[in-house]
Amino acid sequence: MDTEFEARLAAVADATERRLEALLAPAPLPGETLRPARFLDAMRYASLGGGKRLRPFLVVETARLFGVEGEAVVRVAAAVEMIHCYSLVHDDLPALDNDDLRRGRPTVHKAFDEATAILVGDALLTLAFDVLSDEATHADPAVRIALVHALARAAGVGGMVGGQVLDLEAEATTEPHTAEAVIRLQSMKTGALLHHAVEAGAILGRADAEARAALSAYGHALGAAFQVADDILDVVADEAALGKRAGKDAGRNKATLVAVLGLEAARERCDKLVAEAIAALGRLPAGSATGVLAEAARFVARRNS
Ligand code: FPP
Ligand code: MG
Repeated sequence: MDTEFEARLAAVADATERRLEALLAPAPLPGETLRPARFLDAMRYASLGGGKRLRPFLVVETARLFGVEGEAVVRVAAAVEMIHCYSLVHDDLPALDNDDLRRGRPTVHKAFDEATAILVGDALLTLAFDVLSDEATHADPAVRIALVHALARAAGVGGMVGGQVLDLEAEATTEPHTAEAVIRLQSMKTGALLHHAVEAGAILGRADAEARAALSAYGHALGAAFQVADDILDVVADEAALGKRAGKDAGRNKATLVAVLGLEAARERCDKLVAEAIAALGRLPAGSATGVLAEAARFVARRNS
């Protein structure tokens, strides 16, 4: 793997971990009464010590293109990661995917209980918006509002949650899945939050319209490549590497691109999307330091977990 990319990914993961730790500290904040101790442990279990922290990486490295760095950016990265972690906790619940293993550990409802897992998701979702709207995240309220608004759009009914709904509907149907429908579902369920991570970096960087459009194209292509790679991994990877159950999509009538296109065509599509993502970066002003973002696009396609 590209060593600069590897080092940056590790650095962002570390900074995100420390920020999440701080945001999940036991002391109540002004306006809060008390943070229940066992429940806070469950929130920490759901969000600390695991994951590639790819979404935080995209926030931080996109903002860095515009010379914007520091703890405030990491707060935004942590907020996006909280949404991601909440979605995984809820996705694993018995009423949804009913999975026992995540990131190589028992899922939250297994390690704690179902009611706790539901509420952990709720609390992480709420805390993400608390963090974004806090003055410590950005001095300019217009930037804070833009971040809140964009995240709400990406995570809600017309984005991640809506995509999850389409996914459940597709699982339940007896009609064959079409590639168009699967691509749209994936662009919502997984793509919207990955795209948002890039968008949040662009908001923090006060990118102009042209740069916003180029980064948006990058985010869409990267998000799509990520989900095709996920579909491929479910078929080819083993459980130990994946840290979650493998081979589960087919058994559940999951709407995946491997199911509708076949493995080879899915691989080709993944390569094409990576090339698209990298080409979009080429539309940024000459001299933009896009190397690690290009490498991130390659990484999502060839990762093994
Ligand atoms: C793996 O991310 C995550 C996905 C493939 C996303 C799947 C989408 C959902 C679970 C949406 C669920 C939504 C609701 C509302 C329940 P990753 O490989 O980055 O995981 P990591 O953080 O463990 O590295
Ligand atoms: Mg799942």
